[in-house]
Amino acid sequence: MKRRFIMKKLAVIFGGKSTEHDVSVISAMSILKNLNKRKYEIYPIYINKSGEWFKYTIDEKEIENIKIGNEISNTEKLENPIEYLKKMDKIFPVLHGLYGEDGTIQGLFELIKVPYVGCKVLASSVAMDKAYTKIIFERAGLEQAKYIYFKYQNGKYNYIDAKLNETQKTQEELIKIIEENIKYPMFVKPSNSGSSVGVSKVKNENELKQALEIAQKYDEKILVEQGINGREVECAVLEHNGKIQTSCIGEVKSAEDFYSFSSKYKNENSKTQIPATIDKAISEEIQQQAKKAFKAIDGRNLARVDFFIEDKTNKIIINEINTMPGFTSISMYPKLFEQVGISYTELLDRLID
Ligand SMILES: Nc1ncnc2c1ncn2[C@@H]1O[C@H](COP(=O)(O)OP(=O)(O)O)[C@@H](O)[C@H]1O
Ligand SMILES: [Mg+2]
Repeated sequence: MKRRFIMKKLAVIFGGKSTEHDVSVISAMSILKNLNKRKYEIYPIYINKSGEWFKYTIDEKEIENIKIGNEISNTEKLENPIEYLKKMDKIFPVLHGLYGEDGTIQGLFELIKVPYVGCKVLASSVAMDKAYTKIIFERAGLEQAKYIYFKYQNGKYNYIDAKLNETQKTQEELIKIIEENIKYPMFVKPSNSGSSVGVSKVKNENELKQALEIAQKYDEKILVEQGINGREVECAVLEHNGKIQTSCIGEVKSAEDFYSFSSKYKNENSKTQIPATIDKAISEEIQQQAKKAFKAIDGRNLARVDFFIEDKTNKIIINEINTMPGFTSISMYPKLFEQVGISYTELLDRLID
């Protein structure tokens, strides 16, 4: 008797309520284009910026030409997303940022018991929260930029020390603590930042104050970090059949002062180099640390781990871990694996398996 091959029902969810909505749409279009159509019955689902769910009908032209900021067409309101999702064999949440990469939607998948691609609830939320990522990395012994962490709540600052004690401070007092511990240039970041949204580089007290105002709009938790003078490199992690594999190292060459949102997605002079031209020993050390970081947050399936290599010292300094890295065909994550012989389509297969 001939064995019938049963296609898996795969939901691909994209868009979402986060500031990284547009990036998610581009990542998803690329995934929809490259998925093995003989293997999966694909059910694309679009979430708009207000959080409404829609079925999306694949439009080859749209997939080819999508750009940052484009509206999606061919959508039809999904009245009962939960019942719809329950019929799936697997869900691929191609969502970046809040409500997609932070464990919330992963919690929903757990509740309805449908398997999904990517990190589970805990790893997703830890990685989405820079303050908590730092706490875990510190515990894992990974070197990172010196930082000050505080909360801005009801117009007041609460400084959080190394033992997590909170003390209320005025802005003046807080700035004093920051300046006593960290040298300019510094980076100010909302703890839940993604795609550099709300992140500023500051060179003096005035800029620091302005940057606080910006970061406060995105999250009540804020970090101020020592600026690192160095190269920016990234390593992809793939967990498949219980084995953790790391890619080669890629380098980001930002066309602007730092890798801001515009530099990442709008400035054509920003480049990536794969593999990065670095010593084998440093490269291997970065791979080791990427694996360690992935395990430290209790990661699953995939992540991209970002580092700096400090100019003067050659020290490897971990910056962050992304549990749903950019996934366009020119994004770092798929390109890093392509370099080691895993094609985009094969990579998707391994992730969905
Ligand atoms: N401590 C730092 N030193 C130097 N550059 C930094 C530092 N922190 C962030 N940056 C720059 O800002 C960019 C965005 O910061 P990042 O922490 O990666 O936030 P996001 O999660 O939004 O990508 C980085 O890619 C890098 O160019
Ligand atoms: Mg980053």
